[in-house]
Amino acid sequence: MKRPGVWNMLMAAVCVALLSGLQAQDHPGQVSIILLGATGDLARKYLWQGLFHLYLEEVGKGHHFRFHGTALTSTEQGQEAIAKVLESLSCPGDMASGHCAELKAQFQQLSEYRRLKTPEDYLALSKDIEAQVEHEGLRETGRIFYLSVPPFAYVDIARNINSSCRPGPSAWLRVVLEKPFGHDLHSAQQLAAELGSFFREEEMYRVDHYLGKQVVAQILPFRDQNRAALDGLWNRHHVERVEIVMKETLDAEGRTSFYEEYGVIRDVLQNHLTEVLTLVAMELPVNTSSPEAVLQHKLQAFQALRGLQRHSAVLGQYQAYSGQVRRELQKPDNFHSLTPTFAGILVHIDNLRWEGVPFILMSGKALDERVSYVRILFKNQAFCVQSEKHWVAAQSRCLPRQIIFYIGHGELDSPAVLVSRNLFRPTLPSASWKEVEGQPGLRLFGLPLSDYYAYSPVREQDAYSLLISHIFHCRKDSFVTTENLLASWVFWTPLLDSLAHEVPRFYPGGAENGQLLDFEFSGSHLSFSQLLPEQLVPGPDSAPLPSDFQVLTAKYRDSPLISAWPEELIARLAGDIEAAAVRAVRRFGEFHLALSGGSSPVALFQQLAAGHYSFPWAHTHLWLVDERCVPLWDPESNFQGLQTHLLQHVRVPHYNVHPMPVHRRQRLCAEEDQGAQAYAEEISALVTNGSFDLVLLGMGTDGHTASLFPQSPAGLDGEQLVVLTTSPSSPHQRMSLSLPLINRARKVAVLVMGRMKREIAMLVSRVGHEPKKWPISGVLPDSGQLVWYMDYDAFLG
Ligand code: BG6
Repeated sequence: MKRPGVWNMLMAAVCVALLSGLQAQDHPGQVSIILLGATGDLARKYLWQGLFHLYLEEVGKGHHFRFHGTALTSTEQGQEAIAKVLESLSCPGDMASGHCAELKAQFQQLSEYRRLKTPEDYLALSKDIEAQVEHEGLRETGRIFYLSVPPFAYVDIARNINSSCRPGPSAWLRVVLEKPFGHDLHSAQQLAAELGSFFREEEMYRVDHYLGKQVVAQILPFRDQNRAALDGLWNRHHVERVEIVMKETLDAEGRTSFYEEYGVIRDVLQNHLTEVLTLVAMELPVNTSSPEAVLQHKLQAFQALRGLQRHSAVLGQYQAYSGQVRRELQKPDNFHSLTPTFAGILVHIDNLRWEGVPFILMSGKALDERVSYVRILFKNQAFCVQSEKHWVAAQSRCLPRQIIFYIGHGELDSPAVLVSRNLFRPTLPSASWKEVEGQPGLRLFGLPLSDYYAYSPVREQDAYSLLISHIFHCRKDSFVTTENLLASWVFWTPLLDSLAHEVPRFYPGGAENGQLLDFEFSGSHLSFSQLLPEQLVPGPDSAPLPSDFQVLTAKYRDSPLISAWPEELIARLAGDIEAAAVRAVRRFGEFHLALSGGSSPVALFQQLAAGHYSFPWAHTHLWLVDERCVPLWDPESNFQGLQTHLLQHVRVPHYNVHPMPVHRRQRLCAEEDQGAQAYAEEISALVTNGSFDLVLLGMGTDGHTASLFPQSPAGLDGEQLVVLTTSPSSPHQRMSLSLPLINRARKVAVLVMGRMKREIAMLVSRVGHEPKKWPISGVLPDSGQLVWYMDYDAFLG
């Protein structure tokens, strides 16, 4: 596999060599920029202006340029459209108008329109560039293809560029791509693989225009240049919360065919807000201008993100949206969309720097104002005795302390970096950032502007101009690499899947939204602050809401059965476990809990970790019901699941945690290492009568439980407390508590969730005591209690 880091470094070196070599050579070099989709919206609004800006910046520095606007439209129509755009280009305010006109005329002269559709068109373009370069006595430095086209066109275009339009070996190729880069992890991987078959990683520049916003581009340099002040502050001990926000007043009208497929999370949060999040959260590399180091640190930040749950999000949709979709996409009158146009998400980062600090990501259309910002609010541990009227902004430790990366718009109406005066005076590069002039009466985030050190760019630059310049200068750190992109989709896809059928809260739009969309969090749960009876989408397919059902109690195999929707079921089970723990600790001073692994208990672990503050963890012993014969740090290990979802969030003394000894003497589950016997001895030594207070089991689709399988007789009866068994699925080797040991427990809870379990649940409800065929049927505590916890999908189908 190619190492992107090495490639990046190599490319940076190549870039420098090419750029400097160029100045040294007799034949100046030419860069050709081919803009695909040159008559489209983005091109008209930003890209041509960005190219002109690049030209203004670089002209006279030894480079020659040619700009080829291309599209599928006929030459005549295209030329007309392009001529209009070129006419509207503007120069920076401080450029003399005569000079501007001259440069604009040059730029127009160097720009052409051509249709680019067939492989022959690409070949002809390539030949024309070569002929023109030769004719003018130049040499070719490189070609930039800027794809401002819908994503379905990427692969064909990429194939054509690769086969017919690559420059010669001494010149470089850069291909610029605009989002969306997939719809979920799978489609993003597919697209990445396809593009990867045509281009090398260092040839691709995936644009996230937020990385070109001046303030966003300043986050890392700011952190770097203010290390001394921030070192002690940028962590969980001092940061109260981080808010990353993009509010818009516009709605999705005119774009519903795109929006209906993507929605706000894919459109804004997966890319723009996530990129900003990583810039704030990542460990600061020693060298912040090394794209390689920045990428590696970003990827580490992704790895520390805690997985999102359905309850990490609140969703909304402005009321006019469905009507717009019906009109624009010719949908029937009874069509109602579930696409969210507003989302608030609560993100947690499980590392030592950020553990416990809420990161709130929020974006929405049709809100009351247009503004984007990152707000880092610091904790305030001071108590000020003097009355408020004596507080002085620069000194009072009682005024809010915050750093705001004001990305744009809003009341300030310009990008800015704001630092509360009671924090520190920040350093920003004085050539490009200036202090904001006072605006009497203006308050931002609860403070008058005068309470902040506030800096804005000396010259405001549009994101696309900045990015186009970075493409030219090979600044890869301003772009999204394949690894970075996929890491983001890994993070977002499970949430998107779990929200696919969620009904958003409807909001009227604009100022009328009032407090309707305000939300709040508790633990890792986010919910709207105002409780409303949620509207159900009318229509034949509308799904029932969990609240339509009560927790149901009944009997299953003659034992109590509790059935509910997954959330209620998990909440009930977690509550029952806590109650058992409290009882056991009160009576015996300790609670012995044996837990199964796999996917069903994950939600339970998370629930216990997030919401059970009275749980007597300090007196709880945690045991494993079964284990896969893999090292404990392997993601497949049951212990690892327990560690990730529970142990690292609660305070169980280390000596109360009892992983199964599957890895001894650097071997996995070797009989002669006697791991099973050792675990049995540990149980006998610590658990009175080998009688666990509570054993949590699951039920496999083949009727297995713990790691006791129908095909493998070990552990179904006999004296052994812990056994080695064989699973039909990989990893085959397992260690498990035996059925006799399980049946000694005071209480056994069997958790069965999901439609996949429906058939086995039906079957097992009818069979007798046949542990050899269905080990689960052998679970019947000798003197304890058995309770079945089944969700509706498993129980009712
Ligand atoms: C785009 C989204 O990427 O960003 C749009 O597709 C959104 O839906 C836009 O309106 C916002 O960008 P900006 O620069 O106006 O904040």
